[in-house]
Amino acid sequence: MDKFLIKGGKALRGSVPVSGAKNSALPVMAAALLTADKVVVRNVPKVRDLVTMSKLLAFMDAKVSAGTVPASDYEIQAPRLNHAEAPYELVKTMRASILTLGPLMARVGVARVSLPGGCAIGARPVDLHLKALEQMGAEIATSHGYIDAKVHRNGSRGRRLKGAHIVFEKITVTGTENILMAAALAEGETVLENAAREPEVTDLILMLRKMGAEICGDGTSTLRIRGVKELHGTEHTVIPDRIEAGTFLVAGAMTDGDLTITNCQPKHLGAVIAKLQQAGVQIEISDATTVRARGAKKLAAADVTTEEYPGFATDMQAQYMALATQAEGTSVITETIFENRYLHASEMVRMGANISVNGREAIVRGPAQLSGTTVQASDLRASAGLVLAGLVATGETLIDRVYHIDRGYEGIVEKLRGVGAQIERVHSPGS
Ligand code: UD1
Repeated sequence: MDKFLIKGGKALRGSVPVSGAKNSALPVMAAALLTADKVVVRNVPKVRDLVTMSKLLAFMDAKVSAGTVPASDYEIQAPRLNHAEAPYELVKTMRASILTLGPLMARVGVARVSLPGGCAIGARPVDLHLKALEQMGAEIATSHGYIDAKVHRNGSRGRRLKGAHIVFEKITVTGTENILMAAALAEGETVLENAAREPEVTDLILMLRKMGAEICGDGTSTLRIRGVKELHGTEHTVIPDRIEAGTFLVAGAMTDGDLTITNCQPKHLGAVIAKLQQAGVQIEISDATTVRARGAKKLAAADVTTEEYPGFATDMQAQYMALATQAEGTSVITETIFENRYLHASEMVRMGANISVNGREAIVRGPAQLSGTTVQASDLRASAGLVLAGLVATGETLIDRVYHIDRGYEGIVEKLRGVGAQIERVHSPGS
């Protein structure tokens, strides 16, 4: 298993480009299942989750061509879907495989998708996806670890889902995306209330609209989708990754550096930018795709609560905690989206941070001088938090299980080295 070795203490300076958004590329690639035509997806980040998604589509008999994988451009064509199945072997490595359920139900009216289990950050059920599909006429059974879903054949209508009025009890990002894709080919209108408003949802809507879908309400919590009989091929460039951009902003700020983040969309970073400014970080937005972060000599503590977009993203919580360890005073972090998303806190404590966790609340007292040691990454964003902690720690930090970070950050070692960090990937024997 690969590890990262970091020698902390260097201020990061220079310019670093952001890759395409993993959480946008995943539903956009799954949406290619909705048509028999060719779909071209560009600006896909070269990360493990997208390789898994391409394998999953290929398993279903879609033709996926990308030259060498991982790639930033994929051509996907699914004239027929002979295996409407997402097998356990692929789903276990990527929960977002559930994003194939909506398109499969819409296109062929049957699907067998392995139930994504819990993960390090909590139970993560998909009950809301299933309930909504049932409202649209799907019959769903779960047994032996699989979701078996089908729509009964109905004369000339075939196995077609029906539009429905769906109110999500809780806001769910991939749930919203699954239902958008399912409803795009359903008979009649679907109204989806309490929908997620994340930029990645809006990006999927733009792509579906280019394929011929009739959707309105982008960026709001009520989406209306009028189902059409067929969708066609298109080309789509995914939006920049706002979580990667936010991670670099924190890296520039907490190393007392000066980082310019390019190829990003600062308009998607509102809550993170506001919080960093409150902590004393100097932020400059020079244009629609560039943002610069300069560290303050002294960072100030600031409380944060994770929320759905446009609030402060749960996917930035671990990185913000790393910054809070360096800020003067007490920062209270409240995690409202996931039940168990503080596994990085105990690793930061081993590095010398003063953090106490009580249920959904973490209290961080700073500033603390962190010192390098061996730490374990537990999930994707937790790993990013540990990398940031390592950048300011004295001595060497060795981060184990970095396969988590490889799921979602393209070339993080190279990008950080490019702006002065002393970080290297260590290949362990047997990996
Ligand atoms: C997506 C993102 C992930 C991010 C998360 C929250 C992708 C591929 N992943 O995950 O990076 O951290 O949004 O912003 O886009 N829930 C239920 N029942 C359901 C669905 C969700 O109870 O059927 C709960 C979850 O357990 C969680 C909350 O709702 O507590 C939000 O989860 P959700 O928005 O669905 O997260 P994902 O879409 O899995």
